[in-house]
Amino acid sequence: MPMCVYTFLEHYDLTGKKIVPFCTNEGSGLGGSERELKKICKGATVAPGLSIHGAEAAQSESKVAAWAKKNA
Ligand SMILES: Cc1cc2nc3c(=O)[nH]c(=O)nc-3n(C[C@H](O)[C@H](O)[C@H](O)COP(=O)(O)O)c2cc1C
Repeated sequence: MPMCVYTFLEHYDLTGKKIVPFCTNEGSGLGGSERELKKICKGATVAPGLSIHGAEAAQSESKVAAWAKKNA
């Protein structure tokens, strides 16, 4: 995750909230984001994230919709 996201998360209490991570990437996927989110946002639930390859983003609407329906 970019440092600005860490800074944002460190300044808000997300206890009781559900965090649904998603990203585009060129091969790194979600990296350690889910693990880091669980560590920083204690008391929040972290749903399984979605990683979309940047070159396939424009054709991924149905994949994103199915994931959002399942995890929202
Ligand atoms: C500064 C910067 C560094 C990035 N480094 C990586 C990387 O190391 N590995 C990776 O999978 N994606 C990396 N990305 C993300 C992909 O480049 C990006 O998500 C993908 O190309 C889709 O581009 P878009 O989301 O801007 O449309 C990086 C993005 C930026 C802005």
